Amino acid sequence: MIYNAKDCDFSEYTDRVRALNSSENKKVYIFTFGCQQNEADSEKILGMANAMGYDKTDDPDEADMIILNTCAIRQHAEEKALSMLGRFKSLKRKNNSLIVGVCGCMAAEEHIKNMLKTDFHYVTFTLEPNMLHRIPELVYKSLVEGKRSFVIGEDRGDVVEGMPMTRRFGHKAWVSIMYGCNNFCSYCIVPYVRGRERSRSVNDILNECKALVEDGVKEITLLGQNVNSYRGECDFASLLERIAAIEGDFIIRFMTSHPKDVSDGLIDVMSRYSPKIAPYFHLPLQSGSDRILKAMNRTYNRERFLSIVDKLRAKIPDICLSTDVIVGFPSETEEDFRDTLDILDKAKFDMVYAFKYSPREGTPAAKMSEQISMDIKEERIARLLKMQDAISYSNNEKYVGSVMTVLVDSLSKRKDKNTVNARTYGNKLVHFEGDESMIGKYMQVKIDRAGIYELYADKNNND
Ligand code: SAH
Ligand code: SF4
Ligand code: F3S
Repeated sequence: MIYNAKDCDFSEYTDRVRALNSSENKKVYIFTFGCQQNEADSEKILGMANAMGYDKTDDPDEADMIILNTCAIRQHAEEKALSMLGRFKSLKRKNNSLIVGVCGCMAAEEHIKNMLKTDFHYVTFTLEPNMLHRIPELVYKSLVEGKRSFVIGEDRGDVVEGMPMTRRFGHKAWVSIMYGCNNFCSYCIVPYVRGRERSRSVNDILNECKALVEDGVKEITLLGQNVNSYRGECDFASLLERIAAIEGDFIIRFMTSHPKDVSDGLIDVMSRYSPKIAPYFHLPLQSGSDRILKAMNRTYNRERFLSIVDKLRAKIPDICLSTDVIVGFPSETEEDFRDTLDILDKAKFDMVYAFKYSPREGTPAAKMSEQISMDIKEERIARLLKMQDAISYSNNEKYVGSVMTVLVDSLSKRKDKNTVNARTYGNKLVHFEGDESMIGKYMQVKIDRAGIYELYADKNNND
């Protein structure tokens, strides 16, 4: 069901908390782990906090409310969140009225919820990601009744529109178009913590995109666990086309796509609207072995995957491609692993995000025999990255000497010079000398040097 937050008791609780906070200068600290979906959710969390009378702070020490937006995708992500949470215990001792909330995918895991409830007494509430609109209610109950709440597993089929949102950037924006996942890849926790697929309506998405473009946003990234499985009143290809038809000086990106739903229609729309629909595709491979793909429940094989890559390259010649790979899935042999290297060698991705398989409680793969040792995972990932670095570098070298259009994104962290981070239409990172005034502007730059992960442009050719 799709409904508006304003039609439930969301607004009432927001107003009540704002009234309680009205005479004080309250502050919220939000920290986000995980994927862009979580980043987008955090913009809603901040929007709600602002509506309840909390201003954002980057210093947890001065916060009246701390919210961690967590990720459960791998063990390491969970460990990082728990270690950060541990640091807040002493803050609660100093300020007993401090609200500590745990949102995101970890909060949707029953065993984590129970652990936080019994062992982390300073945690005020946990709330799974499908129910963010209940934050004001939980905050109110904590402030007025001193109640701790641990909310999981209700209303997972709903889409809630109309939540306030405080966006982090002026020139780029995330727009969630669908939530959840139906695929149950055997290694993955996401379907258990994010629920089944549900799509927003075409009009809600179009209206949001139009408003963003009117606000001067230059880059819209459509988000979903599998954006190309979008099933609103139309399919994903038609949705993209309708967004691309919005007048304005902006580009559209999307992530993540599932190979099973890359239709010819989608490739056709991308080619017709390039570069307004950016010539970039993130196409997660996971494994190059047909046997492992089957055990992963990925529903495509090597041949199908490579045929999509070929079609994308044939129809959109300047397209950049990236992928995700898991090494050390249970029972992966040296031969299976070589099949993965072989696809990487054939597909020539611009960027590969490689992960060591991490068993997730409750998923079928975690119970499989023949788990692979950490030593072998580490050895394989190192070999894979070494090979891929050479491919990425050689892809990047081809751009040296060419003039490219980039959108300036941010100041780069290098302290020695004033350098900016910019992105080509194909999502390549480009560094060149510049300053804050360039952020959100398109520029033409001449590439004069390539790295493995980035390109460097000559500052004299920026005009
Ligand atoms: N919906 C997307 C990706 C979601 S998670 C898709 O279908 O591809 C992002 C990436 O994390 C996945 O592509 C996968 O490579 C990795 N991942 C997911 N579960 C994992 C696990 N248990 N261990 C290691 N990596 C994992
Ligand atoms: Fe996880 Fe697979 Fe769904 Fe992606 S498609 S979120 S990897 S279950
Ligand atoms: Fe992590 Fe949840 Fe995203 S598990 S990767 S934050 S959907």
